Amino acid sequence: MNYDNIITAFNQGITSITINRPSKLNALNKATIKELHEAFKQADTDKNTKVIIVTGSGEKAFVAGADISEFAHFDSKKGKKLAKKGQELLFDFVENLSTPTIAAINGFALGGGLELAIACHFRVASNNAKMGLPEVSLGVIPGYGGTQRLPQLIGKGRAMELIMTAGMIDANQALSYGLINHVTAAEDLLPLCEKIAGKIARNSSVAIGAAIKAINANYKDGVNGFEVEVSEFGNCFDTQDFTEGTTAFLEKRKADFPGE
Ligand code: COA
Repeated sequence: MNYDNIITAFNQGITSITINRPSKLNALNKATIKELHEAFKQADTDKNTKVIIVTGSGEKAFVAGADISEFAHFDSKKGKKLAKKGQELLFDFVENLSTPTIAAINGFALGGGLELAIACHFRVASNNAKMGLPEVSLGVIPGYGGTQRLPQLIGKGRAMELIMTAGMIDANQALSYGLINHVTAAEDLLPLCEKIAGKIARNSSVAIGAAIKAINANYKDGVNGFEVEVSEFGNCFDTQDFTEGTTAFLEKRKADFPGE
């Protein structure tokens, strides 16, 4: 599929999605959000894609936020629609993908950019990365899930401070907060993500999808995560992946999961 604002590539079970508006520091405009939705959807339904990696093009930014030029003249009605639509199409959508999704943060991850990274299942950053939710400096608040997901990840007090100060933290601080899982040199960022993706890809994609669902259930209002875990655990027993995984173990060989 051809896109104007993103580049997708497939290699050895990994679909890479690169947000490609470097002259605007990869800011998320409406068209980019739509294309990202399509690309994530396509990768998630592609049986050969075991892991998705999302990153930004250029050396400066992952994503420097939602495209401010698009919403600067909005009123409250349009603002609510923007947040709702964006959450549905991209941020909630990514969080609930059954394909593991890694954010490779290669520079600024601000506003909607950090919100996209924290909607991914986990994050790895280069040592030049800078992260923050600067929306209150524009007279607005994070609207793509940042007020909800950031406290879940780093705790309420730290999220409050980061959001209230509109400040930025560097990769080492983000690591100490638990916002990212690893920091690496810029040139090693994608190789490290690919190495982690390779480890994930060896396992049952069906079981991983079930694990994502159960883990996410802990953060959903009115959902009992333990019940979801029981249900997803039980469902695994009817899958070919489970038969293959347990049989391979007993036969002392490596499992070759059919992904069903
Ligand atoms: N929306 C729209 N355009 C953006 C953008 C955004 N979120 N972030 C950067 N850009 C554009 C700039 O307007 C500039 O475009 P121009 O060359 O046509 O003027 C280009 O990207 C380069 O950005 P610039 O500000 O010149 O780079 P810098 O190195 O001086 O500063 C940042 C980098 C990230 C500190 C700065 O761009 C910034 O503060 N961006 C906005 C961050 C933000 O508030 N995000 C939350 C939005 S809700």
